[in-house]
Amino acid sequence: MTKREYDVAVIGAGPGGYVAAIRAAQLGLKVVCIEKHKALGGTCLNVGCIPSKSLLQSTEYYSNLKQEGAVHGIGFENLTVDLSKMMQRKEGVIAGLVSGIEAAFKKNKVTRLQGTAKFISPNAVEVTLNDNKLTIEADNFILATGSEPIDLPFLPFNEKVVVSSTGALSLPKIPKKMIVIGAGVIGVELASIYRRIGADVVIVEILDKICPGMDDSVSKLLLQILKKQGIAFRLGATVKSGLISKEGVVLEVVDKEETVRLSADVVLVAIGRRAFSIELNLQAAGIEPTKKGLVAVDGRFRTSQPHIYAVGDAIDGPMLAHKASEEGIAVAEIIAGKNPHINYMAIPNVIYTYPEVAALGYTESEAKALGLELLIGNCSFKANARARAMGYTEGSVKIIGEKKSGRLLGLHIVGPHASEMIGEGVMAIEKKMTLEEIATAPHAHPTLSEAIMEAALSALGRTINF
Ligand code: FAD
Ligand code: NAI
Repeated sequence: MTKREYDVAVIGAGPGGYVAAIRAAQLGLKVVCIEKHKALGGTCLNVGCIPSKSLLQSTEYYSNLKQEGAVHGIGFENLTVDLSKMMQRKEGVIAGLVSGIEAAFKKNKVTRLQGTAKFISPNAVEVTLNDNKLTIEADNFILATGSEPIDLPFLPFNEKVVVSSTGALSLPKIPKKMIVIGAGVIGVELASIYRRIGADVVIVEILDKICPGMDDSVSKLLLQILKKQGIAFRLGATVKSGLISKEGVVLEVVDKEETVRLSADVVLVAIGRRAFSIELNLQAAGIEPTKKGLVAVDGRFRTSQPHIYAVGDAIDGPMLAHKASEEGIAVAEIIAGKNPHINYMAIPNVIYTYPEVAALGYTESEAKALGLELLIGNCSFKANARARAMGYTEGSVKIIGEKKSGRLLGLHIVGPHASEMIGEGVMAIEKKMTLEEIATAPHAHPTLSEAIMEAALSALGRTINF
């Protein structure tokens, strides 16, 4: 059976694909979205952003009450954790959001097709679900097939003892001892979840710093805070081998000083993700994936075939849901004849630890490497009235501006609700605002966002509260 009625076939229904499909349909195009899994939403909704944030929220409630309850005059007899209930709640959150996408597809008349898509020619894919095959032809294709976790050759995932983030987000019980390999975003977020509810967690990181993409001062501060929360770190350390049994795993870890054997009941390998395009059979479309499996695109997201576009984790750039969605929208608009633009400088990066970390634009060393003269300001949350009222003063705001133009170049926040506060910086970068404009814009009192204003004032040498 052959269908030729689509203007656009989107492959993958993660935040890149489903958003592209809806936007293309809004623009009057006839769209089919092909997703191999039953649930829409991709990595982000099903095994990424949403389950992790859901468990982070549950464990944050628990840990805050446990650690801080008494200070606020809140007492309790027996505070307990029911992991299976936490997991159930997480599944409920996912299900609600997945059905939201299904409803949006219906409302916008996006045809949804379940199955794995593989090119059989530059204008046609074969979609397979169980034994059923269907050929879909379309004028344009948007590839949004995402990414997959990278494993260590001597520690393949079994999702029981050696887990990727997917297994770690559905553990049946709280591990007594957990080793996390990789102190990147997944490493610190998932270590936080299990540490808060009682696991002994050690993170083994090959580099000398955690969250290597972050500003050095942020990375150092976060390390200090996480250590205080009881997470142990072995930095500059390499895992040489692993012995796996039903009960757990023993790793041989080498750092500058010693070789040690670390044992745990669960090891999470979180050393990065790689683009996932293997099932697409790109060669049949006349496209050669890069060695890393990435789909190469030009500035208009076109592959070497001008009617085949790619977005999100499958292409170069930060692996973030909002980046994938921005690109999905842009491609839909390009296909519809519009001229969208994405400002990658304005794409924020957030780590949902407690406190959160949110970063935007250049780090200090990146800005220095550009040879620019800088204005740098800081504000500790100790100087912020709202943070004091909340009882959480660890963390700070660092702002970086260009001396000559006064324009905002970077914003780095470690603090409660940093993920929400970074929005101010996003608007400021988008609108090419100066530190003076940020420093003189009224901020409600008492709010955490006043710390951004204070950091801007500090960069301009006019600190009021410190
Ligand atoms: P995906 O979401 O991976 O979707 C790709 C889809 O394509 C999948 O559903 C897959 O089944 C489907 N597919 C693949 N091949 C085929 C085929 N041949 N045929 C049919 N379907 C196919 N990002 C954030 O911005 N914030 C966060 O807080 C955050 N937290 C994360 C936490 C974890 C644990 C992980 C793993 C990731 C997190 N991310 C987060 C990253 C985010 O999930 C990804 O950047 C985002 O999902 C990428 O979107 P995408 O649409 O490119 O790909
Ligand atoms: P990552 O790239 O953030 O971190 C990987 C870490 O592992 C790095 O610190 C790296 O130095 C280290 N590493 C690499 N090889 C190693 C080895 N052999 N031994 C020890 N350490 C090693 O990758 P991660 O955490 O797996 O996340 C993948 C992607 O998912 C991220 O790039 C991020 O974009 C996305 N994500 C985003 C989140 C968010 O926005 N809050 C949350 C979770 C994931």
